[in-house]
Amino acid sequence: MTKIASLDDIERLAHQKLDKNALDYYSSGAQDELTLRDNIRAFDRYQIRPRVLRDVSCVNTDVKLFGNKFASPIFIAPAAMQKMAHPEGEKATVRAAFRKNIAVGISTMTTTGFDELWETVQPILNEKKTQAEEIYNPTLWFQLYVYKDRARSLDIIRKAERNGFTAVVVTVDTPVLGRRLADIKNEFALPPHLSLANFTDILESESDANGGVKSTNISMIAKCITQAVDPSLTWEDMKWLKRQTKLPVLVKGVLTAQDAVLAVEHGMDGIVVSNHGGRQLDTAPATIDALAEVAEAVNGRIPVLMDGGVRRGTDVFKALALGAKGVFLGRPNLWGLAYNGEEGVCTMLDLINEEFRLAMALAGCTKISDINKTFIQRSPTYSAKL
Ligand SMILES: Cc1cc2nc3c(=O)[nH]c(=O)nc-3n(C[C@H](O)[C@H](O)[C@H](O)COP(=O)(O)O)c2cc1C
Repeated sequence: MTKIASLDDIERLAHQKLDKNALDYYSSGAQDELTLRDNIRAFDRYQIRPRVLRDVSCVNTDVKLFGNKFASPIFIAPAAMQKMAHPEGEKATVRAAFRKNIAVGISTMTTTGFDELWETVQPILNEKKTQAEEIYNPTLWFQLYVYKDRARSLDIIRKAERNGFTAVVVTVDTPVLGRRLADIKNEFALPPHLSLANFTDILESESDANGGVKSTNISMIAKCITQAVDPSLTWEDMKWLKRQTKLPVLVKGVLTAQDAVLAVEHGMDGIVVSNHGGRQLDTAPATIDALAEVAEAVNGRIPVLMDGGVRRGTDVFKALALGAKGVFLGRPNLWGLAYNGEEGVCTMLDLINEEFRLAMALAGCTKISDINKTFIQRSPTYSAKL
């Protein structure tokens, strides 16, 4: 039995378990995958400046965001079609997140319905109540693609509200689907026993038109995106959206100071610096490189979070030092799921949280608010100032 010591080990084991169709779908990026690779490499261009003799015998990683308290600033990113990784799919993911007291993003392209997800976490919430362990508020965040049909967008927001979701994360980097070469070559398809819970009507009408052939292949998924997702979306629509719900609205996919300022001006409650894990615009900057300019432009007015290439505790520390209030993990969750379902995701979260605590202690920080820009520098090898 291989001893697991890092997220890379879990990824290796997951690769052995997945078929080519699923593995390529999960791991690929757009086009030449330059952004995909740079998301990970870019973290190495930063160094942590440790402080010493600061009594680090007790390290606390608690964070508060949008009125909820979490045990860690490391959250799970929304990722489509998780039942390809494990039969329990999104259910296993949310149970792991709730056990670890964090927030978990659920994709519009989920293979599990919102009601099932809300049901699956009730025993965990009840157990916390009986054990008076209610100091944390693990929660579901809904990732929305704004549909051309606004009534449909509202329906799905209401469904999320009814099922306990506490934030809406609007993805804005996907007005059209990025070109992922592996999926095109594989003619990627969702296995026929699985379905996209929020698109059953579109998929059924497509399969009727196909003489009853039920297959969710890459062109059908692209069709769902193009029929459902509105490429004409602008900041004015975000203002409209903000008026439609009392939940906090975060905008996911911002990479520049200009858009960060617009997000604040249009009343957004938070920003996720993201390039969709390198799956949309290839050659877009690595997210850790974009983070500093976004955080600076926002200047503390709303929380800034980030995702993309976070694989180590030191990566989390660097993101927080550059101004993020939290980070999301995308693929590591899928690898945890494929490796061992709910337990695999818990193992993955335990590992990176342990690494993050260690990074904090070794850098001389005992609480999240201790981490700031004075703890980070560009590696002299790369010179450019922050
Ligand atoms: C297989 C896969 C599916 C994804 N599906 C979605 C999605 O449906 N909606 C969304 O906003 N982001 C989606 N993402 C992007 C993630 O939310 C996140 O931005 C990205 O995975 C972070 O990078 P990382 O994988 O390097 O951690 C997906 C990412 C992957 C790898």
